[in-house]
Amino acid sequence: MQLPLEAELNAIFDHVAGIHQGEVADYIPALQAADPDWFGVSLVTVDNHRYDIGDFKQGFTIQSVSKPFAYAIALEQRGIDAVLQRIGVEPSGDPFNAIEFDMNTRRPYNPMVNAGAILTTSLLGDTDSVAAAFARFAGRALELDEVVRRSESDSGDRNRAIAYLMRNFGMLETEVETTLQAYFRQCALLVDTRDLATMGATLANRGVNPMTGERAVSEANVVRVLSAMSTCGMYDYAGEWLYSVGLPAKSGVSGAVLAVLPGQFGLAIFSPPLDGHGNSVRGLAFCREISDRFSLHLLSPPASDTSVVRRAYGGDAVRSKRHRLAAQDDALKRLGSTTKVFELQGQLRFGSCEVLSRAVAAELDRAEVLILDFRRVNTVDRSGASLLRAIGALLESSRAELVLVGAPPEVAEILDAVSFESHSDALEWRENQLLERSSLEPGMARCALADVEVLDGADADFLALIEAAGTYTDYQKGAVIFDVGDHADRIYFVIAGSVDVVLAMGESFHRATTFGPGATFGEMAALYGGTRTARVRAATPCVCFELEVAALNELSRDRPGIALQIHTNIGRVLAHRVAQLSEEVLTLK
Ligand code: DON
Repeated sequence: MQLPLEAELNAIFDHVAGIHQGEVADYIPALQAADPDWFGVSLVTVDNHRYDIGDFKQGFTIQSVSKPFAYAIALEQRGIDAVLQRIGVEPSGDPFNAIEFDMNTRRPYNPMVNAGAILTTSLLGDTDSVAAAFARFAGRALELDEVVRRSESDSGDRNRAIAYLMRNFGMLETEVETTLQAYFRQCALLVDTRDLATMGATLANRGVNPMTGERAVSEANVVRVLSAMSTCGMYDYAGEWLYSVGLPAKSGVSGAVLAVLPGQFGLAIFSPPLDGHGNSVRGLAFCREISDRFSLHLLSPPASDTSVVRRAYGGDAVRSKRHRLAAQDDALKRLGSTTKVFELQGQLRFGSCEVLSRAVAAELDRAEVLILDFRRVNTVDRSGASLLRAIGALLESSRAELVLVGAPPEVAEILDAVSFESHSDALEWRENQLLERSSLEPGMARCALADVEVLDGADADFLALIEAAGTYTDYQKGAVIFDVGDHADRIYFVIAGSVDVVLAMGESFHRATTFGPGATFGEMAALYGGTRTARVRAATPCVCFELEVAALNELSRDRPGIALQIHTNIGRVLAHRVAQLSEEVLTLK
């Protein structure tokens, strides 16, 4: 099966293959051996999916495409200050081999022209450490094309001239010939487009090689390397390149072009014929076409992300899964609006966090507790993290308390707040706070039959009869009290501890409601016949009073008024629950 992007890349490839302009480089004699028809393309995504077309297995020397990676290695090994002291980051507008320097600082203009690249190489550590560093980018050890290395060494007098000048300025502190040999070796590393695309994807993937998972360079240095590629990677064509294609890129005289779309992919093209700037003609054409076709220009603004707040509601409209007795329920209806829940989604970046910050600020006069639910947030980038910090500071200076749900570690580190795994747990915690405040016990540890809500109105005699007709049963935590499909012949009153009603969804079970002391469960199926439609299990060690429907009916024969009262109570409790659920459905729709 051909993937959609494969078809698109093939179409661009076929189109670009029709271009026959350009000349194979000849100033390094060995490069002339290249077949002008070689044409290979590889694209590697940050999740390591690979697309390869044409002569993607054809080896070639990396040449100047080594420069951004050598620069990355120098930044890693020597630190930014030492590197910037010697090599600028200013586009020169000159060809790659220009003998030009910034005469104020005596620095080469940038690390992408030969002067800057030779100086970069002079800053690198021993051969083994450099080879290992290149291998981390490529995901394998790179070999040397000895013929090309020797050929460049034999013909590299212009680079020698550049190096001697730099030594004369006091910028190059190492021996000219030693440094040049290291530079020629670096340029003669043998790669194919798959290697280069992987190296580019490593930059796209914030410095982590997507194939090996190994970090090749720090994130901060990736930004520096990509910046230099954007402004200087294509030499005296760099401005036009950024203007029209808009991807950080680097070309090499062997005919390679590497382009990077940060966060997305590395793209390598190999086709030896070069234009007058020393850039592969087909390489440029391929990049231009893919950028146009998919609007990949780095500076085209991403779609604005204003849907960060998926839903917002008050704690009066949506409740935790903890079942509440009537008086508690009334109190929560009254006080719940002081709780505000924001369900967040997508990527937390500067723009989306700014939208969130306004939503939060608008609630500060009203809300006492703000619950931020991060379970649907996929990523928080640095800019988003900085704004989250500012939101945290705003909340700290307000009277509102922040509560987190499903916060990823990086968020929990920024926002100092109580944290829960589910929004129901967060709501339950807040509801308990509100109930305590209104002097209603959030949950009795243990109740008597007289406290059971559906027995409201039963006198002591009748309670005694009921007690005699049923049984108290202890359950261990996790014990299944009844399961889906069980015959329903009794109703249960929770006396101590709590039970969860769980619904099967595929293979897993989801908690629907939690009942504590005073609540009744299992009444529907028991009173209206049939089998159980949910599983109920002990959430904690618990005690339930179990009353068989037959026994209740027996009792009702003597005391019909009381039976009616119980049925009325059950009806009232159920109606209440349905009303609450309807409101939640409307709120959450
Ligand atoms: O220094 C040189 O001349 C070569 N080793 C590399 C030059 C290069 O690839 C220029 N890029 N277009």
